Amino acid sequence: MLKGKDMLSIHDLSVDEVQEILTLAKELKAKQKAGVEHHLLKGKTLGMIFEKSSTRTRVSFETGMYQLGGQALFLSNRDLQLGRGEPIKDTARVLSRYLDGIMIRTFGHDRVEELAQWADIPVINALTDLLHPCQVLTDLLTIQEHKGKNLKGLKMAYVGDGNNMTNSYMYGCAKAGMTFVAATPEDYRPDETVMKNAIEDAKQTGASISVITDPQEAVKGADIVVTDTWASMGQEDEHEARKKIFAPYQVNKELMALADKRAIVMHCLPAYRGEEITEEVLEANADVIFDEAENRLHTQKAIMALTMC
Ligand code: CP
Ligand code: NVA
Repeated sequence: MLKGKDMLSIHDLSVDEVQEILTLAKELKAKQKAGVEHHLLKGKTLGMIFEKSSTRTRVSFETGMYQLGGQALFLSNRDLQLGRGEPIKDTARVLSRYLDGIMIRTFGHDRVEELAQWADIPVINALTDLLHPCQVLTDLLTIQEHKGKNLKGLKMAYVGDGNNMTNSYMYGCAKAGMTFVAATPEDYRPDETVMKNAIEDAKQTGASISVITDPQEAVKGADIVVTDTWASMGQEDEHEARKKIFAPYQVNKELMALADKRAIVMHCLPAYRGEEITEEVLEANADVIFDEAENRLHTQKAIMALTMC
């Protein structure tokens, strides 16, 4: 179903395609743990364009490609002619002559869309200012592992900045039939168009998507509590000011007391302890949070295998 397609946003995937990715991710995880070869992309090459920093994304895509029998090329925009102003449309057409797929992490979402428009190989969004779909698909797999396979009806509360993670959670929860409530300061709400689209998507699955300002209200009875940095990549200059604005949005023991007793806490990492999350809450949920980090590998292998095969 996904063969030859781009993976730019969870909004573009059908409910069945989301399920297909999660099912294959689980299968590939089991195979890798059992030492069973799964060279689904033998002889294929993924180009990985990075215009922002990364630990998890780079290492998991590169390792994932190797485990699938292919190889990956790390392409920093410091080295690419793209970084010196070569147009995206030319870069896309050139890379399409060498590679079997492109993964890109960049700033404006329009850059990824332009790349995908001009490339005739699958393009995978590995984070833009707007969306981080690979991370949220990974989080759905991790929730299935910790909360049971049926995601429908589970309540996720997101607390903090309305950013690329919040936007992608709205799309992911809508496709999974979950109840999603974000609590953000009024001026830091997630993207309005994404929210409208997610509310529309939610009609298919019975999901519920809402954004409020009160973190206590959002977390009430939640099965999953998530947060993310208060200052995303590109917002470094605002970090100090944001620390003050977001102080009431910290995920700490007091806030967690309002969630369901068996609630799990997730964080895409990197985490800023003492800011969006306390050391205590992070370490108490380290098993989930590092499973989440590991699952980037398995989920992205599924995405690559399905799109690039
Ligand atoms: N969560 C995530 O995308 O991590 P990196 O920025 O390290 O890739
Ligand atoms: N919102 C964060 C996510 C990092 C994985 C950022 O964009 O920097």
